[in-house]
Amino acid sequence: MQEKLAALASEARQEMGRADSPEAVEALRVKYLGKKGLLAGVLGGMGKLPPDERRGLGEVANRVKAELEGLLAEAVARAEEAALQAELSGTAVDVTLPGRVLRPGRRHPVSRTMEEITQVFRRLGFEVAAGPEIELDFYNFEALNLPKDHPARDMQDTFYVDSRWLAAPPSGPVLLRTHTSPVQVRSMLSSRPPVRVICPGRVYRRDSDVTHTPMFHQVEGLLVDVDVSFAELKGTLDAFVKAFFGAATQVRLRPSFFPFTEPSAEVDITCTACGGKGCRICKQTGWLEVLGAGMVHPNVLTAGGVDASRYTGFAFGLGVERITMLRYGLDDLRSLFENDPRFLEQF
Ligand code: FA5
Repeated sequence: MQEKLAALASEARQEMGRADSPEAVEALRVKYLGKKGLLAGVLGGMGKLPPDERRGLGEVANRVKAELEGLLAEAVARAEEAALQAELSGTAVDVTLPGRVLRPGRRHPVSRTMEEITQVFRRLGFEVAAGPEIELDFYNFEALNLPKDHPARDMQDTFYVDSRWLAAPPSGPVLLRTHTSPVQVRSMLSSRPPVRVICPGRVYRRDSDVTHTPMFHQVEGLLVDVDVSFAELKGTLDAFVKAFFGAATQVRLRPSFFPFTEPSAEVDITCTACGGKGCRICKQTGWLEVLGAGMVHPNVLTAGGVDASRYTGFAFGLGVERITMLRYGLDDLRSLFENDPRFLEQF
């Protein structure tokens, strides 16, 4: 039995000397010192020996066990050191690598368009107003003459927000605003006429194709005063279009429908690509649609706390991405939101 122990110790010495990973060392611990390991196996037969032999053998067995434990501890330390070295050499700093170039950022084309539109209207005497992107159904629809179940609500496929988690949930539905028009009502409620505001901002609809994205930008305009006429609406839009697209640009108004304006119009400009002669961009018509507008509906004035028998007003709303596409000759609106620096660096 002593020979068996000596053989076991010599085999363990060799194997532990070769173990090169923490996993291999653990496997050897189980093999030699585990409950069902080789040492336990040899000592299992000790019970059959006479007591004095058993004592002598016990001493040898304890020495072998202590030696194996020492060898294991050394092997663990060696394997851990080797693993650490391997990890460090893998992440060593390579001083020959070229540095990372910090590329300067620039304004996004949509932001630039929005700022330029804002500047033109500021020069025309409009102030900038803002409203929340998470909006109450009341401001987004109801106060804009779009009562519940009004079929025109279908024109704007809406993202509703679950408001139950709010500490004080509002009584009506909550949504991501589908247009900047709710700022019309908010502006009227927070000041007295004359009201002359524009509101650039983000809006959301459940839309996605080459000319529609779920998030896009609009600039709203509102002017409320005594004796505001449709002619002033046209004159204001004409001044904007000439300042923004160039002095030769013409404006055309076509009858349209918005529940919050009466009468309502779609506003076209002469094609920015062909100057009105007809081309692929304007589908040979010579005209491009750029915004919706009209005279503020008396119900909207009333919802805004304005005396509709005394005041009139006009409002308009333009899609910033659409204007950006025309300005830069883009044919896919979605490219504006793909965040590809190769695309964005061109502006
Ligand atoms: C409106 O949103 C009205 N609130 C505009 C208005 C304001 C009319 C004040 C009268 C008075 P409309 O749904 O047509 O109207 O949207 C206006 C513009 O937003 C469109 O002409 C288009 O350029 C842009 N637009 C609409 N949906 C999207 C979309 N999903 N992605 C990008 N642009 C869009």
